[in-house]
Amino acid sequence: MSDDTVELEARLAEQDAFEPPAEFVEQANVADESIYEEFEQNWPECWERAADLLDWDEEYDTVLDDSNPPFYEWFTGGELNASANCLDRHLEERGDEPAIEWVGEPTDEDDRTYTYEELHREVNEFAAALRDLGVGEDDVVTMYMPMIPELPIAMLACARIGAPHSVVFAGFSAEALATRMESADSEYLVTANGYYRRGDPLDHHEKTREGLADVGHEVSDVVVVDRLGEDDHGHELADGERYYRDLVADHEGATVEPVARDAEDMLFLMYTSGTTGKPKGVKHTTGGYLSWAAWTSQAVLDIKPEDTYFCSADIGWITGHSYIVYGPLALGTTTMMYEGTPDYPERDRLWEIVEEYEATQLYTAPTAIRAFMKWGTEYPDDHDLSSLRLLGTVGEPINPRAWKWYYKHIGDESCPIVDTWWQTETGGMMVTTLPGVKTMKPGSAGPPLPGVDVRIVDTEGEEVEAGRAGYLTVNKPWPGMLRTLYDNDERYVDEYWAEYSDTDSEDPDDWVYFPEDGAKIDDDGYITVLGRVDDVLNVSGHRLGTMEIESAIVGVEGVAEAAVVGGDHEIKGEAVYAYVITEDGYEGDEEMRSRIVEGVEDAIGPIARPEQVVFTPELPKTRSGKIMRRLLEDIANGEELGNTSTLRNPDVVEDIQTKVGGD
Ligand code: PRX
Repeated sequence: MSDDTVELEARLAEQDAFEPPAEFVEQANVADESIYEEFEQNWPECWERAADLLDWDEEYDTVLDDSNPPFYEWFTGGELNASANCLDRHLEERGDEPAIEWVGEPTDEDDRTYTYEELHREVNEFAAALRDLGVGEDDVVTMYMPMIPELPIAMLACARIGAPHSVVFAGFSAEALATRMESADSEYLVTANGYYRRGDPLDHHEKTREGLADVGHEVSDVVVVDRLGEDDHGHELADGERYYRDLVADHEGATVEPVARDAEDMLFLMYTSGTTGKPKGVKHTTGGYLSWAAWTSQAVLDIKPEDTYFCSADIGWITGHSYIVYGPLALGTTTMMYEGTPDYPERDRLWEIVEEYEATQLYTAPTAIRAFMKWGTEYPDDHDLSSLRLLGTVGEPINPRAWKWYYKHIGDESCPIVDTWWQTETGGMMVTTLPGVKTMKPGSAGPPLPGVDVRIVDTEGEEVEAGRAGYLTVNKPWPGMLRTLYDNDERYVDEYWAEYSDTDSEDPDDWVYFPEDGAKIDDDGYITVLGRVDDVLNVSGHRLGTMEIESAIVGVEGVAEAAVVGGDHEIKGEAVYAYVITEDGYEGDEEMRSRIVEGVEDAIGPIARPEQVVFTPELPKTRSGKIMRRLLEDIANGEELGNTSTLRNPDVVEDIQTKVGGD
C-alpha cells in the first residue's frame, strides 16, 4: 500500500457521509430539495416535467393510463420521434457542436468527431438506405456491433423510420446472436467486420456468419461496417451482405422525414438474462423511455449542452442505450464513445481521454473502479482530471473503499458521486442521490429519485425495519418502465409482478414491481442494494443467468449435470463457479475443463467464462433432491459451512471443499 493510500484510508475511513461540493450545487440542474415533496404531491403529473424535455409532434392527453395494470401506458395520445428529438431539434443552436466524440482503440489513427449536423446527415442517409432495403415501421433491426459511431447512427436511423432496434452486445457469442434474432423475428442485421481489442483486430464478420447460419428464419439483409480496413480478415461479401459505406454513399444527401410514433410504440428491445435459460426481450417505448432517459440525464448526471460527457459502458448494454445515446443526445450535449479497454495501450488510457477531451462527467462501473484501485494512483495522478465535475457508478454495489478511492483520486474530493441503482427493465435510474441536493453515503445508492416509490419489504410484502435486509420493490409505475417482454405478456407478469401483487386486481395500488434485488434501508431512507436474489449472477456489472451457463455446460459432451453459482471476486464482484458431474466413461481432466470453458464461451461469450470448474461425483442435494446452491456458494467463497446434516449426501461436501481450496 502506498503512503498516499494509507493517508487516504486514515482520513476518509471514518467518514461515512459527504456533502455535495458547494461549487457543484451552485450550478446544478437540480439543487432544490423541495422537488421530492413536489413530486409526491403532484404524482403522476410530476412526470410532465420529464415529457417537457422532449419535442412532441402531437401533445399527449393523459400522463398515465393505469386502467389495465401492470400494462401501464404513459403520455397516451402523444406522438414523437426519438431521432428528431436527439438530432433535428438541436441543429439550429448546436449544429456545429460535437454530438459524438469517438475514440478508437488504436492510438495511431484519427479519432472521429460528429457534429450534430454531420450526425443528422449520416443518420438520414442510413435511414434512407434501410428504407430502400425494405425495412418498414415496426420491423425489428438487430445490431451486432462494437463501439463504433455507426452503432448509434444505426439506432437513430431505425428510430427515424419507426423500426425498433435490438442491439446484441458484440462480445456475445454467435449462438447468442442467433437466439436473439430468432426470438425477435428480426430479418435485418447491421454488423461490422471487426474491431480492436488490446491491439488485435478481432474477426467479427466470421462470428456474425456463424450466428446467421443458426437463425431459423430467413434474414433478408446484412449490412457490414468496415471497421478494420486493411486489417480485415479477408472476407469477401456474401449474398445478402452489403457494406455500410456503399449504402450511405448511394444515399448521399438523402433526407428522411422522421416518422411520428405513438408514445407507446416500441423504440427498442433489449435482451437480458433471467432465471430460465431463455433471455428476456425487454420492450421499451418511445415516449416514456425517452422522457426517462432525458430527465435522469439532466437531474442525476447534471448534463448540460456544453458538457463533454463520458460514459465508459458499451452501447450493447442498457447503460449505453440510455446514457451514451438517448439521454445525452436528447439533451443536445457532447457524448463520448471509446472503443477499447481502459488498460490499452497503458493503464492510464481513460485518464488520457478525460484529459484530452476535458470530460466533465465520468459514468463507469464499480468493477472498473476496483481495477483502477488495484493498478495504483500513479495512472490518474499523471493526468489533469480537473475538468471533471461529477462521477457516477452503475451496475453493481460499490464498496465504500472503492467509492472513497474514486472520490479522492479521480474526483479530487470536488465531484459528487452518484451511485445509481437501476436495471435494463427500468429504462433508467431509479435510486440515487440527486447530486446537487443530497448528502452522499458511500456504499449506499441513496433514496429513490423524486416520484419513484421504492420500498424494502419482507416475503409478505411488509416493510422491514431500518437496517434489516429485505427485498426491493417498486410500488408505483414510472414512465421509463418496460412495457412487457417481447411477445410474452404472461412471462412479464410472472417474472416481475406475481411475487408481490394481487394479480386478480384491477386496482393499480395492488400491483408491485419486483426487480429481484435484495436491499436494506437506513433511518434516513437511504437504500443499500445487496444484490440479486434470483439465480442471476452479476459479473463485472453484467447480468448472467446461472441457468444459461448451466445449459451451456450440460451441452458439452461428457457432462451429466452442472450447477453454477457466483463466488466473490476482488475485481469482478462475482465470478462464475461451475460444479460439474461427468458421465460415466469421461474423466474430469484438463481437456474436459477446456471443452467446458469453450462451450460456455460459444453459447454466451467470454464474459461468462467460468473462473473455476470443479469436477465432483455428486452435487450436494437436500433430501427432496434440490441442489443446495447456497452451500456451493459458501464453498466457492471459502466460508465456514453451517449444518450439512440435512443433506442427502453430506459426505460430498468435504470432497468438493478440498477441490476448490486446492485448485
Ligand atoms: O442487481 C442490480 C445490479 O444490476 C442489476 C441490473 O442489471 P442490468 O439489467 O444488466 O443493468 C445494469 C445497468 C443498469 C440490478 O438488478 N445493479 C445495478 N446498479 C446497481 C446494482 N446493484 C447495486 N448498486 C447499483 N448501483
